[in-house]
Formats: sequence, structure tokens, C-alpha cells
Amino acid sequence: MQEKLKAIATGARTDISMAKSQEELKKIQVKYLGKKGEITAVLRGMGQLSPEERPLIGSLANKIRDELEALFAERELQLRKEEQQRRIAAEKVDITLPGRPQELGHLHPLTTVMDEIAEIFLGMGFTIADGPEVETDYYNFEALNIPKDHPARDMQDSFYFNPEMLLRTHTSPVQVHTMEKLAPQVPVRIIAPGKVYRRDDDATHSPMFHQVEGLVIDYNVSLADLKGTLLLFARQMFGSHQQVRLRPSFFPFTEPSAEVDISCVMCHGKGCKVCKDTGWIEILGSGMVHPRVLEMSGYDPELYTGYAFGMGVERIAMLKYGVDDLRLFFQNDIRMLRQFR
Ligand code: FA5
Ligand code: MG
Repeated sequence: MQEKLKAIATGARTDISMAKSQEELKKIQVKYLGKKGEITAVLRGMGQLSPEERPLIGSLANKIRDELEALFAERELQLRKEEQQRRIAAEKVDITLPGRPQELGHLHPLTTVMDEIAEIFLGMGFTIADGPEVETDYYNFEALNIPKDHPARDMQDSFYFNPEMLLRTHTSPVQVHTMEKLAPQVPVRIIAPGKVYRRDDDATHSPMFHQVEGLVIDYNVSLADLKGTLLLFARQMFGSHQQVRLRPSFFPFTEPSAEVDISCVMCHGKGCKVCKDTGWIEILGSGMVHPRVLEMSGYDPELYTGYAFGMGVERIAMLKYGVDDLRLFFQNDIRMLRQFR
């Protein structure tokens, strides 16, 4: 029995010293000291020994087990260190390799233009208002003096969810939300940038586009205030040489109404292809807030007047950057967008 134990111990010592990995060592440990291991088997079989032999073999087996456990621990530490060193050697950084450039992203040109527009109006004392993109018929049309069956609805063909809910066709419903919230406080002086949707699709009309609404209500607000504000805006956006022109127009929610043109940014008013030889380019719709609109949302039209405008952001971005097809803004072609870094 003693001989057998010693033979097992010798085998184990050799195996341990030959183990090449922690994994292999684990297997060897199981082979000798595991539940079904060789040393364990000897200890289990002690019942068959004579009472004299038992303590002798028992203490020898325990001694060998302790020795082997220590050897396993030592070898494990050694193997772990070796593996670590191998890994460090393999990971060596090659400092002669060229660096990998980190490409920084940048804002979409439409975001940049919206930020610039907001910046200019914030500078004039406007604050930013907001409204939902899914609107009710009341906010998008009704409260803006566009009754059901009014022909003006055809100018803004919409995406409907049901007869009462639609994607807003302009940012003008934010006028109504703002008035309902603030009435009868004055002054009201807000802009409302955001997405709008129409059943349009060509080189200058997209089904989704952006507008910036403006609304001012106070005592004695006049058309001159509107023109002065928009002139200042045009000069800050396109340069100090800019002129603006108000052209009579129609919107159900303003009276009088005007389309606002700026002098052509390409030819500075001389006449070219972009302005169709007129020297002027339309950038927005505007007017004095219709008395009925004021009244419906809680402002007494006998006391207060106001002006409102709504500009197309894509239109302004096209003029500013000389882009001739609005769809380029939405195709996400990196060659196009990179130019606005
Ligand atoms: C309106 O949407 C009015 N709510 C503007 C307004 C506000 C008038 C406040 C009076 C008072 P209009 O439908 O003209 O008006 O659109 C305004 C601008 O949005 C246009 O001048 C144009 O620049 C832009 N626009 C209109 N349809 C599209 C489209 N499909 N794609 C891109 N831009 C568009
Ligand atoms: Mg228009």
C-alpha cells in the first residue's frame, strides 16, 4: 500500500511539473485529488486495512496530499505568470504604425440654418415655442380661420390619420397653442421652428420640410414692425446689402397678408435664372394676425394687434448655400453633407 502511494506521488510530481497550461494542470489535479482521484481512492479504501496499518497509511496519504496541493498551487501561479507574459508580448504596441484618424461628425446643414435663424430672433427678444407634429383639425385649420370645405385647405394637402387628426401642414398651429397658453398677456413674441408635412414632392417641394413660425402680439403692433423685423433678419442672414419686399397675398389667418421677398442672393437684384429675372426671391408668408384668429384664442382684437410669419427653412438653406435641389438635403449622401463641415 505504501509503495502504491509513493508511486502515485511520483507520477503526480512529474505530471505537475510537465503541465503546460492552467487548464491541463486542472485536469491533473482532478486525476489525483478529485472525488474519483487516485489519492482519494486510497483514502477511501482504508477500511480494508488492519488496525495497525491504518494510521500509518492514513498519515502518509495525508502528507502526500498536502504536498501535492502545495505543488499544484505553486505550479498554477507559475503558469499564470507565464501566460500573462505571453499575452503582454503578443500585445506589444507598434509605435511606428500610422495613427487612425478620428472623424468628427457635424451638424446637418438644415440644423445649422435653423440654429442661425433662432439665434437672430433670440437676439431680437423672441423666445422659442413648440407644438405637436400630429395636430387636430381645429389647431391646423379651424382656429386659423380655415373652416371645413374652405378652398384654402387645398393649398396644403395633408396626411390624415382620421377626419380629425393629421400631420401638421405648417407651424401656424403653434400660434394658437401659444395664444391659448398666454392670453390675455402681452407682449407675445415667439418663434416656433419645426417639421411640417404636405403631399408635395418635387425639386423645390418635399413631403416633410421645416418651417419657422413667428408671432408677435402687443398694443399697436403694425405692418411696419413686421417689415422692420424681417429686414433685420434678412440682413443678418444674407448680408447687410439685403432689401425686402412685401407682396400682397392671401392667407385666411392674416389680414392683410403678404409674401415676403428678399433681393436675389445670386445676382443681387440684377436678374438671373434663380430669381427668374425678377431680382427677387420669396422666402416666407406673413401678415397681420386676423381679428377672428385673435378672438378665437382669447385676445381682444379691439385692444391688441399682431403680426405673424412662416418661413421655409429648406428655401433659406438653398439660397444660403446655393443648393438647387431641395431633395439633396434628405438623401443623406455623405459627399453632399461633408461640404457643410
Ligand atoms: C404657410 O405655410 C403659412 N402658414 C405661412 C404663414 C404664417 C403666413 C404666418 C402668414 C402668417 P406657405 O404654404 O406659403 O404658407 O408655406 C410657407 C413656406 O414654406 C413657403 O414659402 C416655402 O418656402 C415653404 N414650403 C411650402 N411647401 C413646401 C414644401 N413642400 N417643401 C419645402 N418647402 C415648402
Ligand atoms: Mg407660399
